[in-house]
Amino acid sequence: MTSYSIIGGTGALGAALARRLASAGHQVIIGSRDPAKAAAFAAAFAAELAADLPAAARVSGAGLADAAAAGEVCVLTVPYAAHADTLAQVRDAVQGKIVIDATVPLKPPKVGTVQLPAAGCAALETAAALGEGVRVVSALQTIGAEKLASGGPIDADVLVAGDDAEAVEAVRTMLAELGLRSWHVGPLANAAAAEAMTSVLIQINRRYKMEQAGVKITGRPKGAPKPGPSLQIRAVPGLPLFGPGDDLALAIGDALAADEPPRDGDVVVVAQKVVSKVEDRAVLLATVTPGDEAAAAAAKAAKDPAVLELILAESSELMRVKPGVVIARHRLGHVLANAGIDASNVSPDQGEAALLWPADPDASARALRLALEARFGVSLAVIISDSLGRAWRMGTTGHAIASSGLKPLRDRRGESDLFGRVLQATVIGVADEIAAAASLVIGEAAEGLPVAVVRGAVYDRDESAGIGDILRPRHEDLFP
Ligand SMILES: NC(=O)c1ccc[n+]([C@@H]2O[C@H](COP(=O)([O-])OP(=O)(O)OC[C@H]3O[C@@H](n4cnc5c(N)ncnc54)[C@H](OP(=O)(O)O)[C@@H]3O)[C@@H](O)[C@H]2O)c1
Repeated sequence: MTSYSIIGGTGALGAALARRLASAGHQVIIGSRDPAKAAAFAAAFAAELAADLPAAARVSGAGLADAAAAGEVCVLTVPYAAHADTLAQVRDAVQGKIVIDATVPLKPPKVGTVQLPAAGCAALETAAALGEGVRVVSALQTIGAEKLASGGPIDADVLVAGDDAEAVEAVRTMLAELGLRSWHVGPLANAAAAEAMTSVLIQINRRYKMEQAGVKITGRPKGAPKPGPSLQIRAVPGLPLFGPGDDLALAIGDALAADEPPRDGDVVVVAQKVVSKVEDRAVLLATVTPGDEAAAAAAKAAKDPAVLELILAESSELMRVKPGVVIARHRLGHVLANAGIDASNVSPDQGEAALLWPADPDASARALRLALEARFGVSLAVIISDSLGRAWRMGTTGHAIASSGLKPLRDRRGESDLFGRVLQATVIGVADEIAAAASLVIGEAAEGLPVAVVRGAVYDRDESAGIGDILRPRHEDLFP
């Protein structure tokens, strides 16, 4: 546990930092020009966080000099306009200590323009004002207060500048504890880059309507092993609720453009339900007249005869019928419960309805792929997925019921394994694997996330293949 004085702790950055420090079990002293304000702020803060604070954490408030005297490390989070005056007030109290300076020399109203002071940067002014007995470390300029206040993970890096390597490492350790990745970017004079970066980030936020833009250092450590394959699976946010006749390709394209445009090789996985909905595959059960076969099967399965009539119409044979269970061979060859017919996500506006699979799912996948490829100028694959049970395993997983742009199987026979043995039987059901991976982020229930993008999957491109190859030919059925 360390004690941190936060000079300007009633403000946006200081309060966010205080929250993270206290949550990490440290003692925090909020410093304000008004000691009563600091005490009230600290009390409200402690009460708000009470249930979440570790036992060691303490939050208190004091005037600037008293707060600075109370902490082992002092953090400066005041506006540049108050910089020199604040430093003069805390100078004596911080001698012998580390001072973390987050100040950005912004000169309102032109905060989007870099305006560094004549000394080079605010951090150098801090060092000059506090004298040689203080180890000044500059940090945090590029981390938005809101992001810090959220308490969640932060996808941005902190640039830490300082002349005292030990002090810099102490600050970096503290930042790591708060969940922040940081880089020692050199002597204190280099704080100019981080301070200037704030105006650049303000410009980026304004121009691109971003919130809390940050910086992140890329690259790999020298000599690090080549990275292994990795996969990114992302649900596509911002899609509407779909209904009959909606333009699915346009909606998915708009959502991808607003989120992150697709890249060559991406696989767009779409839940069957939304494809069925836009293709108006919902059938009102009241409009269905069950025949004798449906009535008999319904009695055996203890299900609605109208549903059985639809199952029969959608399948080439019923393979098992037991109370509560109907396993059918769908007219397209897939063997699955209820021939894929589902009522769980259908709007009940006009009465009970059942949703059938698309009439020609491969054609739907192909149309979607061609539309997205034309819009974004990239090569994609599209999979339509449904959650299906497995014959000898519990639990449903995402399965590909249609595909376009890829071979659904990846035939690795003839390749060698690590020991040079030639693979004899390895054929990977890659379309199903991708569908299952995507189903981890596709919302099954109320999430409203019916589309995912899988990036980095290895598959063989095929412009004309559909899902057909994934179906085991009937003559190879081991349990006929
Ligand atoms: N906000 C961010 O996202 C962010 C990110 C990185 C760096 N920074 C830098 O961190 C520093 C603090 O930023 P902030 O956004 O937290 O500032 P802020 O909320 O506007 O102010 C912080 C605190 O400074 C104190 N203060 C002292 N003299 C002041 C004066 N003349 N005018 C206004 N407030 C005064 C106030 O506390 P009392 O009234 O209690 O004394 C105030 O609550 C700035 O240098 C900023 O550039 C900010």
